[in-house]
Amino acid sequence: VIVSTASSPDQAGALAATAVLEALVAEPRAALGVATGGSPQPLYASLARLVGDEGVDLRSRTAYALDEYIGMPPDHPESYHAVVARDVTGPLRLRPELVHVPNGAAEDPVAAAAAYEEAVRAHGPRVQVIGIGANGHIGFNEPGSARDSVTRVVELTAETRAANSRFFASVDEVPTHAISQGIGTILAASTIVLIAHGATKAEAVAAAITGPETTDVPASFLRSHPDVRVFLDEASASLLPQHTH
Ligand code: PGA
Repeated sequence: VIVSTASSPDQAGALAATAVLEALVAEPRAALGVATGGSPQPLYASLARLVGDEGVDLRSRTAYALDEYIGMPPDHPESYHAVVARDVTGPLRLRPELVHVPNGAAEDPVAAAAAYEEAVRAHGPRVQVIGIGANGHIGFNEPGSARDSVTRVVELTAETRAANSRFFASVDEVPTHAISQGIGTILAASTIVLIAHGATKAEAVAAAITGPETTDVPASFLRSHPDVRVFLDEASASLLPQHTH
């Protein structure tokens, strides 16, 4: 794991965007694995600037989202279908037909999860962008998730639903379940770019990078991957020992 600490979330986003582009250039057929949430916003803003101002062209790239809520119509503004379209597909000028999100509205979510796993794995190389939850989750792989877990139906913890309630009128409206790529699915990417900012993430970041590899902190399993780059602002890096930042 290579950790870079920047003075601000925007700076971290700019560095992370450069890392994503470098990895994509190195693998012209690689898919872009995308995350939703607040963490990658500065990264997408930087990438969008490079696409808009410097002629970076991502139109041939396939993209795969990490997860989707179950039981939410895809046109709900907080479905990850809608969030990915708004935050990623539009700003990065991806072709909508190449951007994939698990089908959380499927009649059979278990089968939809299995089909998504197969599609992600079949594509080949992938440069995966991820955030980290305050509880150490990656994607919706909550504590307890196995290192070799695959795309599946998961139940969200109360903590995660509370954290995501900021996007809804109340916590009761936050779905209880999701389809999420597994930890094993994420680890199959060729390059993983993790981005975090803010003091609420400091404990999870320190546990993931310096603590034991454990199902208690799903992000700790990233340490066994050969190419993980972590981009932090000072607040999210504040609990790391001095030498790692
Ligand atoms: P956030 O979520 O980026 O909205 O903080 C990150 C995560 O829970 O993985």
